[in-house]
Amino acid sequence: MYGSDRAGDDAERTAFRKTEKKYKLYYENSKSTKKKKQPKQVDLSEVLDFKSISESFNQNGELPPGVVHVNCGFDRPIFGLENRPGFYFIPGALTLDEQCTWIRESLTNFPQPPNRTNHNVIYGPISNLFVAAKEGKVFVEEERSDNGLDSEPSASVSNGDSHRWKFYEEDIARSRGKTCKTVPASVLLRKLRWSTLGLQFDWSNRNYAVSLPHNKIPNALCRLAKRMAEPAMPIGEEFRPEAAIVNYFGSGDTLGGHLDDMEADWSKPIVSMSFGCKAIFLLGGKSRQDEPLAMFLRSGDVVLMAGEARECFHGVPRIFTDEENAEITPLELRFSDEDDRCFLDYIRTSRININIRQ
Ligand code: OGA
Ligand code: MN
Repeated sequence: MYGSDRAGDDAERTAFRKTEKKYKLYYENSKSTKKKKQPKQVDLSEVLDFKSISESFNQNGELPPGVVHVNCGFDRPIFGLENRPGFYFIPGALTLDEQCTWIRESLTNFPQPPNRTNHNVIYGPISNLFVAAKEGKVFVEEERSDNGLDSEPSASVSNGDSHRWKFYEEDIARSRGKTCKTVPASVLLRKLRWSTLGLQFDWSNRNYAVSLPHNKIPNALCRLAKRMAEPAMPIGEEFRPEAAIVNYFGSGDTLGGHLDDMEADWSKPIVSMSFGCKAIFLLGGKSRQDEPLAMFLRSGDVVLMAGEARECFHGVPRIFTDEENAEITPLELRFSDEDDRCFLDYIRTSRININIRQ
């Protein structure tokens, strides 16, 4: 599903595609080349805002048409949509502490081998990317042993052919760069788009590669997912997280309309958690021709898709990285320590989504 462009193979003009285009980031054609390019204004008046829905529900019990309150003994209000059974929205489900924890994990531990990332096919497994980016290191490709440069395999990575990549200090990389390919770690971090936890998803065959080495999903994440999944689980059953995909979005990055149809049991929910910059999520119907509903996803929001909602197209056409719309001030304050500078810099212009499946 994460092909070059998941939405590219449908005839250009489905209802879903039209709405994606409506919200996608485009820049104004400014006449002066000196002026910083400005994002095109979009009309956000039709985007469902579960934060304000939740606030007015708490005040006076009122709900907009089509939105329902789900009664289920959870410690905060959960909403659903009348015409999308199986879809649940829990605004502000995660505390600031939880958000910080999972942002840190998503950047430091989750992309570590044997977990796979989008970089695997080109570079092989990469260890300690986040630290390398923080230290200004550069990834350098060198030919194997024939130049006698390095014969210690444990300190480097290999993508299985005759090349290997290693992080070097910038000045060393500069001299090596005359003969070798180089790429700054910060660029690789910026281009990190996904990592997978637990059972590894094989994107080329579009299935779960049960035989690939993998770690179990961390216990704390399992516990959190179980707690969050409860409203969408049949009574008496417990959610068992087996696989998770972490998506990383920078400004302008999108997730095209798609279905998550690789899991055996569609009665189990997908638990989807948002961190960092605010985004627009589109929930369509079972066909790309169905007009999707747009809603904001903020840091700390949790969405559940179970039952019929699992058969609905969905995607993320937009993230907001400008100060006013990103809505990450509380997070920025939490990352204001000098030691956390790298997390702050990353999250200011990024969104992270962890979605967990059984
Ligand atoms: C996915 C997905 C939604 C999001 O990864 O399959 O639908 O909010 N993500 O990023
Ligand atoms: Mn999905």
